[in-house]
Amino acid sequence: MCGIVGYIGSEQAAPILLDGLTRLEYRGYDSAGVSIHDGHKLNVIKTKGRLRILSDMIDGGNSVHGVSGIGHTRWATHGKPSNENSHPHVSNSGNIAVVHNGIIENYLQLREFLTSRGVKFNSETDTEVVAQLVDYYYDGDLLKAVHRAIDRIEGSYALGIMAAYYPDMIVAACKDSPLIAALSEKGNFIASDVTAVLKHTRDVIYLEDGEYAVLTPESVDVFDSFLEPVEKAVSHIDWDISSAEKGGYEHFMFKEIMEQPEVIRKTMAPRIRNRKVILDDIQLSKEYIKGINKIYIVACGSSYHVGMVAKYNIEKLARKPVEVALASEFRYCTPIVDEKTLVVCISQSGTTADTIAAMREAKRLGGRVLSIVNVVGSTIAKESDDVIYTWAGPEIAVATTKAYSTQLAVTYLLSIYLADCCGTINADEYERLVGELLTIPDKIECILKDKEHIQYLASLYFNNRDIFFIGRNIDYALSLEGSLKLKEISYIHSDAYAAGELKHGTISLVEDGTLVIAAATYQRLLEKTISNIVEVKARAAQVLSVTTESGKGLVAQVSDNMMVIPDIDELFLPSLAVVPMQLFAYYVALLRGCDIDKPRNLAKSVTVE
Ligand code: F6R
Repeated sequence: MCGIVGYIGSEQAAPILLDGLTRLEYRGYDSAGVSIHDGHKLNVIKTKGRLRILSDMIDGGNSVHGVSGIGHTRWATHGKPSNENSHPHVSNSGNIAVVHNGIIENYLQLREFLTSRGVKFNSETDTEVVAQLVDYYYDGDLLKAVHRAIDRIEGSYALGIMAAYYPDMIVAACKDSPLIAALSEKGNFIASDVTAVLKHTRDVIYLEDGEYAVLTPESVDVFDSFLEPVEKAVSHIDWDISSAEKGGYEHFMFKEIMEQPEVIRKTMAPRIRNRKVILDDIQLSKEYIKGINKIYIVACGSSYHVGMVAKYNIEKLARKPVEVALASEFRYCTPIVDEKTLVVCISQSGTTADTIAAMREAKRLGGRVLSIVNVVGSTIAKESDDVIYTWAGPEIAVATTKAYSTQLAVTYLLSIYLADCCGTINADEYERLVGELLTIPDKIECILKDKEHIQYLASLYFNNRDIFFIGRNIDYALSLEGSLKLKEISYIHSDAYAAGELKHGTISLVEDGTLVIAAATYQRLLEKTISNIVEVKARAAQVLSVTTESGKGLVAQVSDNMMVIPDIDELFLPSLAVVPMQLFAYYVALLRGCDIDKPRNLAKSVTVE
């Protein structure tokens, strides 16, 4: 959470920082601020609220002059959103300014230490101790002062630091929080994410844990944790800024829903050659795969829901036991992991703190980690034994759609690949499945063409107070995602249940008019699901079903309304069925006037535990 950007060069810094922060707002948006060096001193302007308030305060950056600066957009952890708690934080002397992403775990001890030496604190944040500590240790060398301060810090951080004494220097450092440096003709940058700098350059350096970067207008020098110089490779980003812009759509979420056929093609096409699943990305030998005793899938939120689908599919195809764990629980549940355990970490951002912690625990226990990640070069991608990138491109809306869909696509490829290695599917079945897999993008296109129908359905139900999702097997996994999508952007209370479970308690909440969204795509259990639908209908619920062309005849008899998807092999149904659910959530949120791309209390990249 929190977005950092810094610029030092020949142009006015404030407009560049504001533009960069706009692209990082998905990381947090409860307050924002910049610190600009005017050649003599640091000027700090910060405020509670959205970035546009800051932008208005400084006339789009035109009223603050200076060619170097750091900026921040915040997702509050320590201390409520307020002007005082906004970043940059400045030391008492006004000489050190700091922007920070992460959590300083021992900030209370450090605060006590500094207070006992006469330092006065102005905010409730953990970050302020960094500014005060750097100032405390400063004796003429900024990098050394930062190094001494960091030596005393426990926790996670990506830091951008400026000092009044150095108009032409920014110092950056990171541990367990992403940070890049970027180079261009007109100056150099730091940022939490490449999207913040893409307008200016595609040449970036990924900073590793424990590294420091010193930026001047002409250079970026990187040092290791002992302040020894490090040679870093410059990576060239090959997607351009348009992928991170709305391209005429009203919301990023809608744009990203519409992009799904294309990004799924991009994810699958290079990995299916001559109708064979080729996973060049990974180094798992056939012997290793055959010998796997258990697969753990570890993830959070929607990525966890992908894991739920993957469990059903891998167990069905490859006949290996799969356990799906929430990353925040995994490390505290004494997981049984050894060298024959494959731990699959799924993460769009690759920076989710809980998933990182789970991945490290899995490695510590001797497991082999295969990650499915969207953001190239992110922490999870870098630290995993193997990584399969989802290639969804930048996902900006906080609620995931296209990343979820490409994650699903990768798990399908993986399921077939594992099954092939284990010899648990025959050649005909293999060929049939690969053929079916390739039909997903076109079938999603068909569903998207019918979006007006889903918009109409949203208009019938957008005023509901509680909505329940039910489904069995992969329809249950799908229901979890449908429910999360709806509640996170529309703020309607919603829960998902395994359809057979409802009668064990929750059905008491169903009353006249309660909306139940029934995922009824899984043909094998259709009759059972229909029985569960009938149970809620008997309590006067309204039922909106998601079903297939071949299921619609039966499902229509027990539903008030339906969203119908094309037929496809049962393994891949969630890829189609999630699309009407995403659209439904989107249109409901639109009708309720919600801030769709930036729902309250959320952030895209959850870098705190
Ligand atoms: C929901 C959503 C979140 C993420 C979760 C994990 O729409 O986006 O639930 O799926 O925070 O994030 P990643 O995949 O980046 O680890």
